[in-house]
Amino acid sequence: MAEDVENQIALQRVERPGEGQAVCFDLKSTIRLSTGTIVEITEQGFLACYQGQLRAWRNHCPHAGSPLDWNPGQFFSDDGTQLVCHTHGALFDPLSGDCLAGPCPRGLFPIELREEGCSVLVPESAPGVEA
Ligand code: FES
Repeated sequence: MAEDVENQIALQRVERPGEGQAVCFDLKSTIRLSTGTIVEITEQGFLACYQGQLRAWRNHCPHAGSPLDWNPGQFFSDDGTQLVCHTHGALFDPLSGDCLAGPCPRGLFPIELREEGCSVLVPESAPGVEA
């Protein structure tokens, strides 16, 4: 385990994906239920490589909150130019995370990353979400 000393955030090492590929990683998070109860969960994030650039996102669609990948690890459209939520077909820009089409009210939720040699460091946990 690594640590971002400046920000006191525990980091985890993720293998760098190949071009047009994505890899998933666990992400500890909390959700606040409508009753006010806070529940700790483990969700997923994913690290994607597009045009040689890396981006990390929560695997949580901003439309209805489902994971984007229908088949584990499959985030890219058939032509490899967009990220797809396979639940209702929303399309996202792989670099900005902006919603390009579909019912999503906003873009993807970004996760900070830091490249370190052949691997990439991402946080072990993400900010909480409302459910
Ligand atoms: S849950 Fe992703 S488009 Fe509906």
